[in-house]
Amino acid sequence: MGGLKEGVHLGDCLAGLKGLPEASLDLAFADPPFNIGYDYDTYDDRRDDTAYLNWCKEWIGQIYRVLKPNGSFWLAIGDEYAAELKVMAHREIGFIPRNWVIWYYTFGVHCKNKFTRSHVHLLYFVKDKMDFTFHKEGLHVPSARQLIYNDKRANPLGRMPDDTWILRPQDVPEGFSGDSDTWNISRVCGTFKERAGWHGCQMPERVLSRIIEASSSPGDWVIDPFVGSGTTLAVARKLGRQTLGFEMSEEYAARARERLAMTKPGDSLEGGQETPWAQPKPKKASAGSPQGPKRTAKSKLDQPESV
Ligand SMILES: C[S@@+](CC[C@H](N)C(=O)[O-])C[C@H]1O[C@@H](n2cnc3c(N)ncnc32)[C@H](O)[C@@H]1O
Repeated sequence: MGGLKEGVHLGDCLAGLKGLPEASLDLAFADPPFNIGYDYDTYDDRRDDTAYLNWCKEWIGQIYRVLKPNGSFWLAIGDEYAAELKVMAHREIGFIPRNWVIWYYTFGVHCKNKFTRSHVHLLYFVKDKMDFTFHKEGLHVPSARQLIYNDKRANPLGRMPDDTWILRPQDVPEGFSGDSDTWNISRVCGTFKERAGWHGCQMPERVLSRIIEASSSPGDWVIDPFVGSGTTLAVARKLGRQTLGFEMSEEYAARARERLAMTKPGDSLEGGQETPWAQPKPKKASAGSPQGPKRTAKSKLDQPESV
């Protein structure tokens, strides 16, 4: 059984997790393959339901084992398995659920014959009902009372975000205010400066920063078993956490390492402010410009659905 070594580890996360000491990490964030037939470079995202669920039970069980007694676990998952994995993590593995956050985004694949999918589930668990890290400081967002109604009764510090996180507040300014459980964070679109362009599942830094700031403290250990483009590790490092993760693809691991090598504690986060009113508009990119649409990777959130 090895110790903790920072950085991106090339290889299967299950084997990697088994090699980590018990009760050694503070926070785990996992954005696993959703088993929807997404085209990764090496991983085959089309498994039989039972095989997929059994595999999830194994690695989530390992996450439980490596987390400290006061550790937290956040799971990003699509509709297909959200219900089963929530029940499994809670009833079979022993995690205590705290929030079922909906990350509401735009630019989802347009459906002609059903409602367009525009969300990902972010399931938030802890190991101990009473003993866990949850920093409220820094998470507060301006309330609707402050921003829209100019209400003198408004708490000047704002309020805690809701558990629905939104991406197109301009569509529903009344329905999803920035102070609610809607997370006002855009998906990383093709034209965004933040977009690395070589991994279709790149999560926005602002989603990760909210999770990491709330559920860990500076100096804590943060793990991501499915590194992908390395968002979790990059944000954890920017926020002064120690961090490690696993990635089975040689190419993704190498590129995530490059991203991490260019990241240092205190670096500013990509993606601007999270509140809708401060959300930077994506710059119009011209071909060949540094911010141009250099990516070709199709997003996991753009998966073809039965339209
Ligand atoms: C949904 S992506 C993660 C994206 C990441 N959250 C980001 O922001 O870029 C899932 C990643 O898990 C990797 N993967 C799949 N199975 C794995 C396994 N058993 N061990 C390690 N990595 C795995 C895939 O290659 C893929 O890059």
